[in-house]
Amino acid sequence: MGNFFFQKDIISIRDLDREKFDTIFNATDKIIAMSPNERRELARGKTLGYLFFEPSTRTRLSFEAAMASLGGTSIGIADALSSSTKKGESLADTVRIMSLYSDVLVLRHQLDGSSRFAAEVSAKPLINAGSGTEEHPTQAILDLYTIRKEKKKIDGLKIGVVGDLKYGRTVYSLLYALGNYKVDVHLISPPALKIRADSTYEIQKRLPFKESTDLEENLDEFDVLYVTRIQKERFADAEEYAKVKGSYKIGLDMLKKMKDDAIIMHPLPRLDEISPEVDSTPYAKYFTQAQYGKDTRAALLALILNEKGI
Ligand code: NCD
Repeated sequence: MGNFFFQKDIISIRDLDREKFDTIFNATDKIIAMSPNERRELARGKTLGYLFFEPSTRTRLSFEAAMASLGGTSIGIADALSSSTKKGESLADTVRIMSLYSDVLVLRHQLDGSSRFAAEVSAKPLINAGSGTEEHPTQAILDLYTIRKEKKKIDGLKIGVVGDLKYGRTVYSLLYALGNYKVDVHLISPPALKIRADSTYEIQKRLPFKESTDLEENLDEFDVLYVTRIQKERFADAEEYAKVKGSYKIGLDMLKKMKDDAIIMHPLPRLDEISPEVDSTPYAKYFTQAQYGKDTRAALLALILNEKGI
C-alpha cells in the first residue's frame, strides 16, 4: 500500500484512524532511532511555511525544529495579524502566497473552519496547528504518542481530562482520537466549561464518557490525568472568566491521592493549574510530551513530503 500521508492535508483528527496513528507512531520511532545524517535526507531542500494568527511557542518551534532536523528550512509569519492581514489581505490570498514559497504549510487561526478553508485554496498540503476552539490534530497525535510511550499501551487505560473542556481545542482532537481505542474517559470541568453540546453527540458515538465537576473524587482511579488551561482569550465576558479561573490546581497534596504510576499531561502553556513543585515528580510528563511534539511532527512532515514514506 502507498503512503496515505503523501501530500495530504491534516485538518481534523477525525480523518485519521488507529492504523494511520500507528503509521505516524512507527515513523516517529524510526526517526528517533535514525542518525542525524539519515534524518536530514527526509526533507532536504524542502521548505515549511507557517502562518500563525494566534500566539504559539511549542507548536511553531517544534515544527521549525522538526523541519530543521529533517534537513529542510522554515519560513513564516509568527504574528500574522501584523502582516499584510493588517492592510486587509484576505486569509485566502495570504495562504495562496505562502503556498507558492513552500512545500508544506502550517496554519494556526482563531476561526473554526479556517484550516479546512485554507487547505482548499492552498496548492500545497496544509497542517492545522489550531483552528479556533475546534481542533488541534497534531497535538492529539503527540498526546497519543506520549500515552503509548509512557504507559506502554492506550487500550484499557482510565483517562481523566480536566479544565476548560468548552473552549480547549486540544480536548476535542484528543477525545476524537481516543474514540479509536478502548479507554475509559472521565471529563471534569466547572459546569460552565463542560464539553460543547454540539460535539457531545459526535464524541459519545465513539467514546462513552462520564462527566463531573469534582476532580478529587476520582483522582485515585486515573492512569492518565490530562490537564488543560482555562482559555481566557475565548471568553466573551471577563466576569465569566473570573468565575472559573483557578478552578483546579494540581499540587503535591493531590499527587498523594493518585495511582503511583499515573502520569500527568498538559498541552501547555500552563498557568496555575499545575504547581511547579509537581514538575520534578515522576508523575509530570508535560515536558516529555513537548519533546515528543517535535518527534511526531517530524514524522508527519516526513510522511507528507516523501512518497515512499519512511
Ligand atoms: C494549545 C492550543 O493552542 O490550543 N497550545 C498548544 O499548542 N500546546 C493549548 C492552549 O493554548 O491552552
